[in-house]
Amino acid sequence: MRRIRIGVLFGGRSGEHEVSLMSARSIIGALDPKRYEVIPIGITRDGVWKRPNNALELLQQGQLDALQESLTTSQTAVALDPKAKDVPPLDVVFPVLHGPYGEDGTVQGFLELANLPYVGSGVLGSAVSMDKSIMRRLFAEAGLPLVPWRSSLRSRWQQDPESVLTAIEEQLGYPCFVKPANLGSSVGISRARSRHELEAALTTAAQYDRKLVVERGVVNAREIEVSVLGNDEPQASLAGEIRPGGEFYDYATKYLEDSSELLVPAPLSPEQQEQFQQLAVGAFQAVDACGMARVDFFLAEDGTIFVNEINTIPGFTRISMYPKLWEASGVAYGQLLDRLIELAVERHEDKAKNKATRI
Ligand SMILES: Nc1ncnc2c1ncn2[C@@H]1O[C@H](COP(=O)(O)OP(=O)(O)O)[C@@H](O)[C@H]1O
Ligand SMILES: [Mg+2]
Repeated sequence: MRRIRIGVLFGGRSGEHEVSLMSARSIIGALDPKRYEVIPIGITRDGVWKRPNNALELLQQGQLDALQESLTTSQTAVALDPKAKDVPPLDVVFPVLHGPYGEDGTVQGFLELANLPYVGSGVLGSAVSMDKSIMRRLFAEAGLPLVPWRSSLRSRWQQDPESVLTAIEEQLGYPCFVKPANLGSSVGISRARSRHELEAALTTAAQYDRKLVVERGVVNAREIEVSVLGNDEPQASLAGEIRPGGEFYDYATKYLEDSSELLVPAPLSPEQQEQFQQLAVGAFQAVDACGMARVDFFLAEDGTIFVNEINTIPGFTRISMYPKLWEASGVAYGQLLDRLIELAVERHEDKAKNKATRI
C-alpha cells in the first residue's frame, strides 16, 4: 500500500508562529512513518512558503531556532500552489497554523481552490470562529449561554467615545473584558475595572482590529475546556480545566511563563461533565466546524456555565489541552491524528458528491 503523502503547514504570519512550530513538531513526530510520508512546508512570518532541505530533521530534533533561521535564509520559496512542481502531489494537508492567516479560513480557501483534502474546519467554520462577534451571534442563535456582551466598531469608538463608554457601563458594568474581535492568544485583551481602565482597554484593542468586543467579566471564573472530534456526528471528550497562574489567562501566562496548571479531567460532577460536553457539541455545530475544535467555557462561582469561544486549530503539542483531553477519553495522540486525517478525506469525498450544475 502506498503511503499517504501529507503536507504539514507550519509557522505562518500570526503571533502564534512559535506555538505552531511546537505543535507541528509534535504532530510530525507522531505520524506513523509506515503509513505517512510527511512533506513539511514552512511559512515565514512574511508569508513566504518554503521547504528548507533540513526542515524535517530540525523539527524532529526540536531545533526550532535553527529551523526559524533556515526558513528565513532559505532561497527555495515554493510556488503558492501546493500542486506546483516544487511540492510532490499531496494526498492531504494538515494546516498547523494558529490565529490569523491559518485558522481563519484564508489557508482553507486556498486549499479548497487547489481541491486538496485538509484537516479541520472549512472556510466558513474557520472564519466565523475567528471573529468573536460573529461567533457570539451564532452561539446566541443556537441558544448557547453567553455572558452579556456588545461589539463596537473602532471608527465609532474614535468618533464618539462618550457614547461607547456609556453604553458599556449601562449594559455591562465593571469588571469587563475588552478584546479585538479577530486575534487569538489573548493579544490586545484587557480587563477594565473603571472608566479610566476601560478607555485604555478600548484604545489598546483598537490597535489590533477594526471591530471590538466587550463582555461582562465573570468574577473568579473557572476555565473549562472540551475537545470535539468529528464531522457530521461530532463527539466530545471529557472536560478539562485550566488554572492560570496569572490574574487571567493572558499572553504571558499562556506562552511565556510555565505557571498554568492543567487538570484532566476537570474536577466536576458527572452532570456538569455531561452539560459541558453537550454545549461543546452545540458550539461546534453552531459555527459549522469540521474535524476538530476546542470549546472554552467559564464556570461562575454560582455554577452558571458560559461558552467563551471555539478554537478550530487548537494547540497540538503533546502537552496541549486538545490532545490531552482525548488521551484521557481513550484516544491516544497517534490515533487522534489518524482519525483527523480520515475525517479530512471523508469531508473532501462528501463534498465531491455535490452536483455542480443542474443537469
Ligand atoms: N468575560 C470574561 N470573564 C472573565 N474572564 C475572561 C472573560 N473574557 C476573557 N477572560 C480571560 O481572558 C482570557 C482570554 O480571553 P479569550 O476570549 O479566551 O481570548 P483568546 O481568543 O485570545 O484566547 C480567558 O482565557 C480568560 O482568562
Ligand atoms: Mg481563549
